[in-house]
Amino acid sequence: MQKLCELNDIPDGDAIGVQTPGGEVVVVRQGRELHAYRNMCPHLGIELNFMPDVFLDTEHRYIQCANHGALFQIEDGLCVFGPCQGEALVRLDVQLIDNSVWLMPAHATKD
Ligand code: FES
Repeated sequence: MQKLCELNDIPDGDAIGVQTPGGEVVVVRQGRELHAYRNMCPHLGIELNFMPDVFLDTEHRYIQCANHGALFQIEDGLCVFGPCQGEALVRLDVQLIDNSVWLMPAHATKD
């Protein structure tokens, strides 16, 4: 498991990108609730953002791909508008431990 950042590094109601050896991770904060995804749009497999740490739409209700405007639900990464509607971002498991944000290892598929 890998430490990504401190909770207070993420403005409440917003998101940041954190570089990891496996690629950039998008972490969205809603109070003490966190949602994390790979920074990769299911439409073309490219990064979601043009500007550092700009991942949400103007009302901060959805994760938005800057390339073609796809909108993804913050809570599950499902695309609800745009060219990849019905597909989803790759969700990652993060946990808050003593106000630090940790990326948990991917779970092996259970038989
Ligand atoms: S690459 Fe994200 S909507 Fe096209």
